[in-house]
Amino acid sequence: MSGPVVRPRRLRGLPAVRRMVAETRLAPQDLILPAFVHEGTGERPIGSMPGVSQHDLDGLVELARRARDARLAGIMLFGVPDEKDAVGSGATAPEGILNRATRAVRAEVGDDLLVMTDLCLDEFTDHGHCGVLDDAGRVDNDATLERYAEMAVAQARAGAHVVGPSGMMDGQVAVIREALDAAGFVDVVIMAYTAKYASAFYGPFREAVASSLQGDRRTYQQDPANLRESRVELELDLAEGADMVMVKPGLPYLDVLADLRARTDRPMAAYMVSGEYSMIEAAAANGWLDRRASVLEALLSLRRAGADVVLTYHALEVADWLRTTD
Ligand code: PBG
Repeated sequence: MSGPVVRPRRLRGLPAVRRMVAETRLAPQDLILPAFVHEGTGERPIGSMPGVSQHDLDGLVELARRARDARLAGIMLFGVPDEKDAVGSGATAPEGILNRATRAVRAEVGDDLLVMTDLCLDEFTDHGHCGVLDDAGRVDNDATLERYAEMAVAQARAGAHVVGPSGMMDGQVAVIREALDAAGFVDVVIMAYTAKYASAFYGPFREAVASSLQGDRRTYQQDPANLRESRVELELDLAEGADMVMVKPGLPYLDVLADLRARTDRPMAAYMVSGEYSMIEAAAANGWLDRRASVLEALLSLRRAGADVVLTYHALEVADWLRTTD
């Protein structure tokens, strides 16, 4: 009896063979750690994200040191201010928590770890929206752009290597590029949140940044029903000068990632968001999932679908695992 001539299992038999033919790999330099900084003192655990905390300045600097030593690509900073107002003044004030934190982290890591900043107003506004509101209470696109331009320059002055506009206002990349260039920051990289969906998976993040949002973000973030709309956003962001583009959330949007991957040669990022983190943590805590295997598989899948880099709250731990995993 003659068996099959072609045997795909031949390449699956030994770990060493599997390693040789792996099409996708994970490395610490593919990972970006999102981190939260508050204005008080001490570490404040985030209940909806077990293992993740809001840090004080010293704690954040220590975290950045660990990220650098683990050879991560970067750290993405989110500020949690005490005071919020209608226009998000804390976002542009040099002494605003995010700008102070950026200076402190950059002073510590220099150019050995990329210092990245969330460029959005929602953490700083008392109404919790990503922009300023008009008289009717709607998010005013063009008035918001002026705030983003100021915010970009404030973040670059504080030492950000990379700014991450995540507010989904029309024209945001263009005004940010123009403002950065006019202020002399031609080398600051724009990692644009290109395809950002109005997602339920951001739920835990709202606690993480103590968001006061009432309602939702559906007038500016994308409808989960749409793929083609992401291609429009991609074209615009590239035309406006985005250096890198991002898809967010991650796992529910692998099709979007793969589709955009085929349409641009720019580096692409994927953001495995708070809800994706917490789902795995909750299931693992119940013994329903193998935590380490699930996290690694999720990250590998995002890379396979087309992401060059992944933002993940698991980044430090994963870097540790990668030193000991085959
Ligand atoms: C906006 C922003 C959000 C996230 C990152 N940037 C919240 C939102 O758009 O509602 C969510 C990240 C996460 O859920 O991990 N500043």
